[in-house]
Amino acid sequence: FTAQIDVTDTEKGTYPHFMLKEIDEQPFVMRRIIQEYQDERDNLKLDEDVQRAMMACDRIYIIAAGTSYHAGLVGKQFLEKMAGIPVEVHVASEFSYNMPLLSEKPLFVFISQSGETADSRSVLVKMKEMGHPALTITNVPGSTLSREADFTLHLHAGPEIAVASTKAYTAQIAVLAILAVGTARAKGLELDFDPMQELAIAANAMEVLTDQKEAIEALVRENLGTTRNAFFIGRSTDYFVCLEGALKLKEISYVQAEGFAGGELKHGTIALIEKGTPVIALATQENVNYSIRSNVQEVVARGANDMIFSMKGLEQDTDAFVLPRVHELLTPLASAVPMQLLAYYAALHRDCDVDKPRNLAKSVTVE
Ligand code: G6P
Repeated sequence: FTAQIDVTDTEKGTYPHFMLKEIDEQPFVMRRIIQEYQDERDNLKLDEDVQRAMMACDRIYIIAAGTSYHAGLVGKQFLEKMAGIPVEVHVASEFSYNMPLLSEKPLFVFISQSGETADSRSVLVKMKEMGHPALTITNVPGSTLSREADFTLHLHAGPEIAVASTKAYTAQIAVLAILAVGTARAKGLELDFDPMQELAIAANAMEVLTDQKEAIEALVRENLGTTRNAFFIGRSTDYFVCLEGALKLKEISYVQAEGFAGGELKHGTIALIEKGTPVIALATQENVNYSIRSNVQEVVARGANDMIFSMKGLEQDTDAFVLPRVHELLTPLASAVPMQLLAYYAALHRDCDVDKPRNLAKSVTVE
């Protein structure tokens, strides 16, 4: 197991890059979030004002950019499945132009690692003018989005220095799960699993995964060494993680990468598959395991070089990598880790500046 890491540290220590350190910090961040959102009797604790706002709304509008938007897509599932509240997830920069018809009692949830993203802030300012309540989920409690919203939930991820977001993404997913569970409890809804225990299991899985760097590095060497493009395919929850996996690869290794819904491939994208095109498939969801595997067959039949990332209990002999088992709603916490490591090693292999990729900034304060 990896040594204990101080997640508040802003130094690289013995790590070659902040990104790798931040990937490794994820199990500790998970455990810290569990601690921070538990009372002394180990029961989940969610701010009462936040609970009231959640109970009072008839629809949630999640607003975010980049990686935080991808966390929002996962969060929508938690909030709808566990708390029974309809959720829309919007890219911040598009929301103002394509504002949907709002429900009678909307609650705006801003997800932002930095709490400074101008695109998100401009939506917040408009929604406050319209008198709508807003909750910010951020890693920086004193940030603009945190100060200007009515409520804040803190990610407790510690400073994230690498431009490509890793530990903030998984922290956002964990805090969104806690928000959903806390709301479900407040509404008297029963869950058929112990969420804090499942989060702890996910933290352990992340620790196992961060110890499997060599296996991921070997996959990169064999399959992503010189490729110019790569596709990520998945269905349901896996699809959202595919979007994030592709974004990570694009951001730091400059490989042209896209995430697709497995079922959508045949409607156009499959035309891009050539001999040797790397296709990374996530197969962690039991209910779509059969269909995503048949999508993999479709691309393999056209010459693709497939890499299936499955989960214990759903694996097959030819899978490239098998993740430890975690609760089906929380699989992104596990599957994100090898996706981050794929991007990291692909960037290293290409001599890219891992922590400071070209053209990107950690926080974008212009619209
Ligand atoms: C920038 C960063 C991305 C990040 C996005 C949203 O584009 O390069 O890594 O996901 O902003 O940032 P936020 O701080 O709002 O989560």
